This record gives sequence, structure tokens and C-alpha cells, in this order.
Amino acid sequence: MPIEWLEEGRQLHLYNDAMSYVMRVLASGRLVHLHFGTRLSTGTDYSHLTRRAFTALYNQVLDPEMLELPTAGSGDARVAALTVEHADGSGVVDLVYRGHRLLPGKPDLPGLPSTYVEDADEAESVEITLVDGHSGLEVALLTSVYREHPAITRSVRITNGGIEPLALTTVMSIALDLPDDDWSLISLTGAWGRENHITDAPLIRGRRSLASTQGSSGHRQNPFILLHRPGTTEAGGEAIGASLVYSGNFLAQAEVDPAGLTRIRLGIEPETFRWQLEPGASFQSPEAVLAWSDAGRGGVSDTYHRLYRERLVRGSWRDRARPVVLNSWEGAYFDFDEDRVAEMASGAADLGAETFVLDDGWFGARDDDASSLGDWTVDTRKLPSGLPALVERVRSNGIDFGIWIEPEMVSPRSRLFEEHPEWAVGAPGRPRSELRNQYVLDMSNPAVVDHLERVIGAVLGSADISYVKWDMNRVITEPYGTTLPAHRQGEFFHRYILGVYELYRRLTAAFPGILFESCAGGGGRFDPGMLAFAPQAWTSDDTDAMDRLRIQTGTSLVYPLSSMVAHVSAAPNHQVGRVTPIDTRAAVAFFGSFGYELDPAALDADERTRVREQIEWYVARRETLQRGRFLRLVSPFDGDGNETAWMCIAADGSEAIVGWYRVLSRPLPGPSLFRLRGLEPGARYAVSVWPEADDALVRANSLERGGDDLMAVGLFIDDHAWESQARGDFQARIFEITKVAHAG
Ligand code: DGJ
Repeated sequence: MPIEWLEEGRQLHLYNDAMSYVMRVLASGRLVHLHFGTRLSTGTDYSHLTRRAFTALYNQVLDPEMLELPTAGSGDARVAALTVEHADGSGVVDLVYRGHRLLPGKPDLPGLPSTYVEDADEAESVEITLVDGHSGLEVALLTSVYREHPAITRSVRITNGGIEPLALTTVMSIALDLPDDDWSLISLTGAWGRENHITDAPLIRGRRSLASTQGSSGHRQNPFILLHRPGTTEAGGEAIGASLVYSGNFLAQAEVDPAGLTRIRLGIEPETFRWQLEPGASFQSPEAVLAWSDAGRGGVSDTYHRLYRERLVRGSWRDRARPVVLNSWEGAYFDFDEDRVAEMASGAADLGAETFVLDDGWFGARDDDASSLGDWTVDTRKLPSGLPALVERVRSNGIDFGIWIEPEMVSPRSRLFEEHPEWAVGAPGRPRSELRNQYVLDMSNPAVVDHLERVIGAVLGSADISYVKWDMNRVITEPYGTTLPAHRQGEFFHRYILGVYELYRRLTAAFPGILFESCAGGGGRFDPGMLAFAPQAWTSDDTDAMDRLRIQTGTSLVYPLSSMVAHVSAAPNHQVGRVTPIDTRAAVAFFGSFGYELDPAALDADERTRVREQIEWYVARRETLQRGRFLRLVSPFDGDGNETAWMCIAADGSEAIVGWYRVLSRPLPGPSLFRLRGLEPGARYAVSVWPEADDALVRANSLERGGDDLMAVGLFIDDHAWESQARGDFQARIFEITKVAHAG
């Protein structure tokens, strides 16, 4: 079993073939962290690995060691993982080991999404109980290790075992102490339209924090950090990932103390959190997922991609090929009627798309974004025959039908708001802020969740709907739980997201055949919590291919390509006005859950031919693109960012698809050269190029090459060989690498 308990040293060692995580109970009863990283041998006592943090105290009550769950007021001057306010106003917590139990597999977390096992043999878990004798506070640290994934998961359950109520003011899902600070920290930061840009900077003394306080994980920062050693590359060097399976306010932080120890904290954002815990009550934290690799940043991404694709995403769509979608938004916005929808859908079917998604504007009386959210009945002015008839009309073209919803919102100009103004989030006596002309429904109120289950369920049950895009378009302001007492208002944000999860849980259970796409003004809630319900997410509202290079590269640090919805849109691009070749737009969107965001009727004959060919090309290779191993070969965040290259390798190694992209053309550029990875050195591969017109480029790269040659020398883009074809800005080429002979 992958968890070893050494009774003598009271040491717990969680391990698999790739890594180890070691904890130990000191003589004082405190639980300390000894190691996370390289696989260490079993049967060995690692007590010598403990390191003391810097402390100015000589007679401190607690040991400032690398505590597994550091608490406040103990002499450890670093940030705590758990802070409380006892009934007497004090905040001291002194946690001592009481016992542990090993559990086969991995238990679910009540009310929260988490990674899972299908067979108890896939993982083993240990639940360690720590108690604060003075108050009776009890902590259960649940830590799991997968056999096949170099990942550790951690969630914390706090129980008030005392006789007085107390308040939880910080509950981190994990605090991970590392014995040195020789790391650089990567975070994914951005804004609307430029999500998940990579920021990389060495750790320095003090704290570096990423956080959200807006009610969702947000566009600005993703609940993820990656530490890597100086000199680490995509393919080599030590790297640690920390990812939170949560969609609400989060904190991800690294702190370096004066002695050079590093502490990572990951959990619910504490400034917007305070949870009242009555005697006997428990609180469960979201799950943190740690990944470790000595195969570079790519090694960490490999772990998250596989784990999240196979054991976080669930339901009937987990293992199915994702359909090619044509979404109506950029093609029609709010401007459609029944005939226009039917024409768009039949145009989409004619091009080869498999699902037509009718975006915003089909309900209430919504001609723009100023009204009707909450009124989830079809707008019969626009769609007089009703939804079932429209869906049948669309489906008669041989294409599936999907629909857009934004259940968590209400427009001030809506029937729902007239009937239930008290359901909109707002602090008593203060005006509510409108953002995008809308308010947020109070998802912490179970009556709201029940109502939404009923009305959204009625829509989804009324017609043959196979796809739902679930949007969420504003930050939460004037936070206030309309049914919560004053002393529980600090629970609002967490209860809000629990309500969202509950609604997702009910709707995905009632409609198991529907593929859900999550969205929040693009990638504003692209996080592992959402992936547990919606297998894919709209990556960004910016559909410009050049901007998407950075957005998709950053997103790919954690999230698998199957989860990243990527669409070709019209030129000039609606967000930035750039005109890029249609095949460049497709070559970028191929590396994701592919589709279109345009009006087929607006395409000219040449474009229609290109789109048909793109869809045919993608469908034939989507198994590799959606479920293969993804590698970043050239990053748009490196150098001047002018070039990017990505690669996907089929699970059986029989083919690989490589995308190469160049933003601006430059005079006398010299050949671009980039090395492939993950091929068999001794195998032979046929190389072909898409679009096929580039014969000169194929010849220049040779029709057949060895895996060693492709990995050591690489593919090259030579403007001379390419004659005039590679000239111009915004170029992209796809190389298909097909194994023709095995090694040997
Ligand atoms: C924001 C989304 O990101 C867009 O794709 C679109 O669905 C609009 N909302 C609709 O209002």
C-alpha cells in the first residue's frame, strides 16, 4: 500500500513510483512535515529532515518546525493555516496528534467537488486527527496519494468538539513547508480578455499572494501556483504545482521566512471568510492538489492534465470526443429570430459542425444585456414556435442543439426581480451596484437554488438539448447573505459557491447526457471546481488567434486541452480588430475543444471550403488533440514572444501533431528551429504539413525523419524553402508526425 506508518518514529510516508510525502509526530505530539518531492525509500526514518523556522523566541510554547497545519500564536511567526476566534476572544490553538486511520481509496468531500477514484485500489488516504486540548477543537487532515499520478491531495475538516461556539477565521486546505527558498514562482494572472498569462519571478523574503475576493476564482488570478528551481525548463528540473479545487474566493501564497524556509498556503481567501462553528459542528475545506516532478514544468502539467481529465471531470462526457460546436454569440449577438437561428444552424451543419449553441438572447425580452436575466422562458417575439419546435428544426439538419444560461443572475428589469427582489445579493440599506446591468442572485439561499433547479430544469427538459453553456458575468459586490444572521455573514461567499455546486450537482444528475461548458465572461471561473461539473470551459472572450497563443499556453499549465473551449471567429476580430488568416485561427483553436463563433452565412466561398476542411481535419485527429499528451515546445512568454509551438502526442504514440505560430514577419529572419519531445528516438516518422499547399516546407523538413533527429535537431521553418508562403504576419503551420516504423 502506498502509505507506510513507522510506529517507532511515528512517521507517515505517502509514496508512489514517482514521489514521496513524509510527515512525523514529534515527541511533543506536534505533526511536522519532513519531505515532499523525490521518491525516498520506505522503511527509513526521516526525522533528521525536519528544519526549524527562524524564531526570536527561546522558550516558545510551540516548536516553530515545519508544522503540517501551522496555527497562530505559537512562536511560529509565519502565516498560519488555521486561525480561530474562541468564545473568550483568544486565538491560540495548539494542535496535538491523537491518532490516524488509513482508508482505502479516497473519500468524497461533503458538498464540495474533488478528485476521485473509481476503484479503491487507485489511491490510499490517511486521516490524521489533531486536537487542541484546551478548546476541544478537532482537526482531521485528510491526505491521499494516487498510485498512478504523482499527486497528493489534502483537505481539512475542523470540528468544534468543545462546549462553546467558535469562529474559524482562516482555514487553509494546505500549508506546505519547504526547507529552502531557491524557487521561482509562476502564477497565472490576467484580466477579462487576457486570462492566464504566465508571470514568473524568484521568491524573495516576505509573502507573495494571489487571491480572489470577488466571489468567483476570477479572471485576475487562477487558484494555482507553480514553484520551479532556477534553470528548470519544460522538460527538466524540479517543479511543484499547487492547485485548488474551488471556484470561490481563494488565496495562493508563498512566504519565505528570515531563515530561508518557504511556506506555501492554498485555500479559501481569509479576509472574506469567517465561519461560525457551533459545538459539534464541522467545516470541510476544499481540496488542494499538489503535484511534483523532476521532469520540469511539463511534468507538473502532465500530472494535472491526466488527473483532472480522468479523475476530476466526471459523467458521460468524461471520456467522449467533444463535439465541434458553432456558437451563435459573435455571429448574431442578440440579433436573431427563428429563421436566422435555423439558418445559422443549418449553415453550421453544412460546414460539418456537430452542435449548434444558441447563446444569450433567447429568453424573456432580451434584445440587449439590459433585461430579462432570471426570466427563463423563451422569448416568443423572437422564437414564436417555442423552444421544442426550434430545437427540432435545428436538429432536422443533423446537428445537436445547445443553449446558453446564466442562472446565478437577475436583471433589475425582469419579472423575477419584481417578484423576488429579496433574492438579489445586497447589503441592507445600501444601494446595489449594477454590473452589466445585472444583480447576482443569492446562491447561499436554498430557496433560490430550488427555484433555479425548477426553472432551468424545465428549460432543459422541454426539448432535446445536448449542450449547456453556463455563464456568470459579474463580480459580487455588496456581499450579504439574505437569509444569514449577522454573525454568519462571513460565511456568505463560501455558501454562495456551495449553492452553485449544489445547483450544478442537481442539474448534471437530472440531465446526465448534457455536456456542460462553464463560462464567466470568458475564463473568469476556469478552475478545477468547475471542471468537476462542467467538463469544459470557455477559455476567453478574446477569440483573436494571436492573443489566444498566450491565453491557451498559460491555461495549459494546469488544465487539459479537452477542457479548453477554443473557437475560430470572424476577421477582423471583434475584440482587437486584428485580421488573421482563417487557417491560423483554426491552427490555434485545434489545440482545444474546437469550434466556431461566427455566422456561417457571412463566410465567402473560399472560407467555407477552408472551414469544411478544418472540421474534417480536426475530427479525424481530435482523439490526439483532446486526449493526447500536450507539450509546450516554444512559449510566447519567452524571448520576444514572437513564436509559439505546441505539440500533442497520441496515447499510443502512433502520431503527434505540432502547431507552430509566428506573430510578426521580420526581414531575413533565418530559419525558426524548434525541437520536438516525447517521440521514440529509434522510430521513423512521416512528416506532413497542414495546410497542404506548403510542399516546399514538407520537402525542406524531409518526408520521413527519425525520432532522434526530430528531437535533437527539430523541425524548421525556412522562409526560403517556403518561398513566399511563410511571409506575412500571423502565420501558423501544423505538422503531422506519423510513426511509420518502430524502433529497432
Ligand atoms: C460572456 C461570454 O463569455 C460570451 O461568450 C457570451 O456568452 C456572452 N457572455 C453572452 O452574454
